[in-house]
Amino acid sequence: LALVDAADGADAVRVLTSLAPRPPLSQAAARVPSSAIRDLLALTGSSDVLSLAGGLPALGHVHDPVLATAAARVVDDAEAVQYGTTEGWPPLRRWIARRLSNGSGGVAAAADDVRVTHGSQQAIDLVVRALVDPGDVVVVERPTYLGAVQALAPAAARVHAVPVDADGLDTHLLADALRAGLRPRLCYLAPTFQNPSGVVMSAERRAHLAELASHHGFVVVDDDPYRDLAFSPPPPPLRAWLDPELSVTLGTFSKVLAPGLRVGWVHGPPWLVAALTRLKQATDLHTSTVAQRIVAEVVTPPDWLDGRIGRLVALHRHRAAVLTGALRDRLDGRLHLADARGGMFLWGRLDDDLGLDADALLPGALARGVAFVPGAAFACDDAPSSHLRLCFATLDDDRLTEAAHRLAGAVADAARAGPGAR
Ligand SMILES: Cc1ncc(COP(=O)(O)O)c(C=O)c1O
Repeated sequence: LALVDAADGADAVRVLTSLAPRPPLSQAAARVPSSAIRDLLALTGSSDVLSLAGGLPALGHVHDPVLATAAARVVDDAEAVQYGTTEGWPPLRRWIARRLSNGSGGVAAAADDVRVTHGSQQAIDLVVRALVDPGDVVVVERPTYLGAVQALAPAAARVHAVPVDADGLDTHLLADALRAGLRPRLCYLAPTFQNPSGVVMSAERRAHLAELASHHGFVVVDDDPYRDLAFSPPPPPLRAWLDPELSVTLGTFSKVLAPGLRVGWVHGPPWLVAALTRLKQATDLHTSTVAQRIVAEVVTPPDWLDGRIGRLVALHRHRAAVLTGALRDRLDGRLHLADARGGMFLWGRLDDDLGLDADALLPGALARGVAFVPGAAFACDDAPSSHLRLCFATLDDDRLTEAAHRLAGAVADAARAGPGAR
């Protein structure tokens, strides 16, 4: 009937296709959960909600014309808009290798072992696809980066989450699990200003993890996007301790240059990067030549990037202090916070006496006009969490202070309502 009544041919075709039977999604696609953060951002994006939920560095404040000039030069060059190699633009790979060599406790990195990827998110996906078969065990931190959980889902990995404390992933608990027979293929962690907890893994734990990896023969992925956003110098990346055959380091220009360019990298042993290259060929042929060339143009002149990072870190440090101070003033004793050491996030814990989990707090917080990410989003199970991830990098001082005020109001409402009302 709809077909007969359709006013024009296009409508008639649309009706027809909507009646066609659809094949089911692949099991791999069906297993990938939607990102709770991206869903939340979609919810808060257009309203007057003050969002502490996203993870946007304060790049607007350090923006300068250098990026625009480089972009104009690059697109004007016929070669720069051509196809490129899967491995990445060689001058950029050399720059990345030099940067890795300078900051890694004396361990040199070769450009041949670097692959440029569309953000470090793509590197996580490629590493998982290269190493993990259905049912393989992958060790992650608890809490862990949500994007890694998403990348692990299609592989049908068995995720073993090891708690993080103030010194990072608890390697003693991991050692116990290994003694009890756990046999991981891979250990994925973000040990430096971790997302979401902001924790920095101690040098002792880094050394212990490397020892466990060598003994049991699993690959360790050090996802290191926040290293440059340090308020005080963190320990070197894990590769300073790891056997090079088992060591993968991921990096990105997203947090200090422009996340929209989608340029990141992976450094690893030749046997693994060769596999990553084949997988990347199948995925997208190569990383955008235009984006790589823009990045190379701006980072090559000495000191430009470090100057930008210096200004960005000063602003982040200031904002972290503003948000921490405002939350402590208004929520003293009800929200426990450690001082931020770098990165972009505070990891608040609601006091046990409140008997409140962060998921239950969120609707009231949104109603009062403030958003955060509840801690359960960073776990690999459905356990409730009393943690809140709060981004200090994005909002200005007045908005951070107002966001803290609104959050305190939401906590007070929930405390008054009591557990039965939640
Ligand atoms: C720990 C971690 N790894 C990887 C990424 C992805 O970054 P990119 O923009 O380089 O893909 C993020 C982004 O938030 C992150 O927090």
